[in-house]
Amino acid sequence: MFISSQIILKFLVFFSTHAFKCTTFCLGAVYSAQGQYAQKLLKDLMENYTSDLRPVEDTDSALNVTLLITLSQIKDMDERNQVLIAYLWIRQVWHDAYLKWNKDDYDGLDIIQIPSSLVWRPDLVLYNKADDDFSGPMDTNVKLRYNGEITWDAPAITKSSCVVDVSYFPFDSQQCNLTFGSWTYNGNQVDITMGNDSGDLSDFVENVEWKLLGMPASKNVIMYGCCPDPYPDITYTVRLQRRSSFYIFNLLLPCFLISFLAPLGFYLPADSGEKVSLGVTVLLALTVFQLVVAESMPPSESVPLIGKYYIATMTMITASTALTIFIMNIHFCGAEAKPVPHWAKVLIIDYMSKIFFVYEVGENCASPSSTSQSSHLSQDDVTHLNHSSQTQTNGKPGNSSKQEEQHTKLVRNVEYIANCYREQKATCAKVAEWKKIAKVMDRFFMWIFFVMVFVMSIIIMGKAP
Ligand SMILES: *[C@@H]1O[C@H](CO)[C@@H](O)[C@H](O)[C@H]1NC(C)=O
Ligand SMILES: *[C@@H]1O[C@H](CO)[C@@H](O)[C@H](O)[C@H]1NC(C)=O
Ligand SMILES: *[C@@H]1O[C@H](CO)[C@@H](O)[C@H](O)[C@H]1NC(C)=O
Ligand SMILES: *[C@@H]1O[C@H](CO)[C@@H](O)[C@H](O)[C@H]1NC(C)=O
Repeated sequence: MFISSQIILKFLVFFSTHAFKCTTFCLGAVYSAQGQYAQKLLKDLMENYTSDLRPVEDTDSALNVTLLITLSQIKDMDERNQVLIAYLWIRQVWHDAYLKWNKDDYDGLDIIQIPSSLVWRPDLVLYNKADDDFSGPMDTNVKLRYNGEITWDAPAITKSSCVVDVSYFPFDSQQCNLTFGSWTYNGNQVDITMGNDSGDLSDFVENVEWKLLGMPASKNVIMYGCCPDPYPDITYTVRLQRRSSFYIFNLLLPCFLISFLAPLGFYLPADSGEKVSLGVTVLLALTVFQLVVAESMPPSESVPLIGKYYIATMTMITASTALTIFIMNIHFCGAEAKPVPHWAKVLIIDYMSKIFFVYEVGENCASPSSTSQSSHLSQDDVTHLNHSSQTQTNGKPGNSSKQEEQHTKLVRNVEYIANCYREQKATCAKVAEWKKIAKVMDRFFMWIFFVMVFVMSIIIMGKAP
């Protein structure tokens, strides 16, 4: 096993060295001739050439530059500073009238690559650049053909300003313009044409946050008031759509869930003492989310959709907390409170409690109907007691006045106790009635706020594409 592998290894080494020798030899033979010609060609071309002047035979005619942009990657979209950082390949093609040669004089050599600094280059710049340093594209090589056609491919990382409209965040789409034009030459000197009516997206690396919808190009010719010459530019519009699932999961869903808790605050029993603190906690949680959103947005006048949702939800929760405080006041109406007004009794206790299914009061105090019954009984008892005392005095005429006095005292005491009891029952009933009113109102507002939260969630979901 070991020997056989060694043999194979030796064979491989032998073969590869010989194959390498052969290729170097054969190719070297081919290129050595062309290499000489290429050097001669470059020497001849550059002898009287200057890269400073526009290479046209007739200075009145325009030089046509064809521009082709390949969008390779969207590196970043900074909404706050309104800057799009993109990685572009910029291809410019033009004809140089002084860099032509006869193929046959140079052994059929028809194309050479030379540093771009040796030849004249159009001074195309990105007009809406947002970069600090004004460096142009990289000094890559240019491809020079025998008929004078020069192709210059240069990669560039561009920072371009872009008007970001976040009113539909996180369901927004953006359009960023990349405007290219010559900085010094006017349209009669250097004319730019579009190589294709859209940017090339075949090598585009997908972005995690943005979906690229297209990159149409358009040519604009601007005539300034000062001068009669046209100034052409080519504008590529990068059309982007935000992938919103990240924001749905991280900003919208938590807000939905939290805001559904807020109406439940009305359902919480008042005696737990947590009603108000639940509302305030929810409000604080929403504030945190709102800060996160506000931090990444430009401080513009158009409030994003999600911001509007937060504001609406926070307003709602503030209102619900305030209402809770009022209802708590009603709930804790003590013994000194006025009796429940008649209209409230009819409206809230008779009708609304049935609509919102509030039946049991859930308090220790007896219900109003049983109170009246017991008070009636106690009155009966008292009359009976009075009656019996009268019969007793009638039955025994020779009784002492002391005994009679004791009887009346007893009756008065029993009456007093009965009254106290009756009064206590009435107070209890009153308190229970207020509590019931508070409970019915709680239930009423709970459903109202549930509907509001639901409608708001539907509205914001309706804006999603
Ligand atoms: C360059 O210019 C010189 C003098 O003007 C001329 O003699 C020479 O032929 C030119 N070379 C080429 C390659 O045109
Ligand atoms: C540039 O293109 C225009 C038309 O597109 C043409 O008339 C003109 O001759 C071209 N210029 C050159 C130098 O080829
Ligand atoms: C972007 O370019 C297009 C086409 O030239 C133009 O209609 C649009 O107004 C430009 N947008 C901005 C924000 O400049
Ligand atoms: C222009 O772009 C389209 C779509 O990207 C492509 O099919 C076509 O070949 C391009 N045309 C040229 C001249 O490059």
